[in-house]
Amino acid sequence: MLTIHGLKKTYRKNAVEVRVLQGVDLDVRQGEFLAVVGASGSGKSTLLHLMGTLDQPDEGAVALNGYRIDQLPARSRERLRNQTFGFIFQFYHLLPELTALENVLVPAMIGHSAATWLWRKREQSRRASELLDRFGLGHRLRHLPRELSGGEMQRTAIARALMNRPAILLADEPTGNLDADTGNDIVRILRELNRQDGLTIVMVTHNMDIAAGCDRIVKLTNGRIERSAVAV
Ligand SMILES: Nc1ncnc2c1ncn2[C@@H]1O[C@H](COP(=O)(O)OP(=O)(O)O)[C@@H](O)[C@H]1O
Ligand SMILES: [Mg+2]
Repeated sequence: MLTIHGLKKTYRKNAVEVRVLQGVDLDVRQGEFLAVVGASGSGKSTLLHLMGTLDQPDEGAVALNGYRIDQLPARSRERLRNQTFGFIFQFYHLLPELTALENVLVPAMIGHSAATWLWRKREQSRRASELLDRFGLGHRLRHLPRELSGGEMQRTAIARALMNRPAILLADEPTGNLDADTGNDIVRILRELNRQDGLTIVMVTHNMDIAAGCDRIVKLTNGRIERSAVAV
């Protein structure tokens, strides 16, 4: 589904060169729950950003269903990030002045013109509250992020990521800021979305216990994928 070939990325800052990715090859299969593990600084976030067109590689290619997406014009990549990819992050990245419900609605608002938004707003609001309800937040719709726990903020972020029915969910250390039990709840939700809804998920983590819940684990070492192993 998502094919990564020969991906290279070097960051340069103040004459310091950090060669992060040095030829990454990886195939993400439709319907799988894939874990990408590696030490801190090994380039996991960089790889996830390149997969989701948040950044562009120096060399190599990222293809979605056979079509290259890494060199598309900015507008097309924005559209992919709004429609095709869902993102969740370690620190949630919720907008602090918006309620949980409004945060979940943001991707839908971005995806529509002002005119179509007006007549779709009701239906989209219903979808947003159904998603929050599904993740146990039906009683938190009007809460601001600062009034939510870490686990609740991450569940809100998952609802937001799903709002536009993405084909792939990209998760960057989604449990990294949570205690073990709450982290396991988040992985259980992702597992269920993968099994029940057939959602393809790529999750980056440095935590092997968390990765053990996935279908397949690949490890990033020295800028390359070290080896594939079947977990489970
Ligand atoms: N925007 C950037 N500019 C310069 N260096 C960066 C940038 N982003 C990441 N790096 C460096 O690239 C390396 C890999 O970072 P990252 O992909 O965030 O690793 P990980 O997510 O595995 O911890 C780190 O050494 C980091 O300091
Ligand atoms: Mg990272």
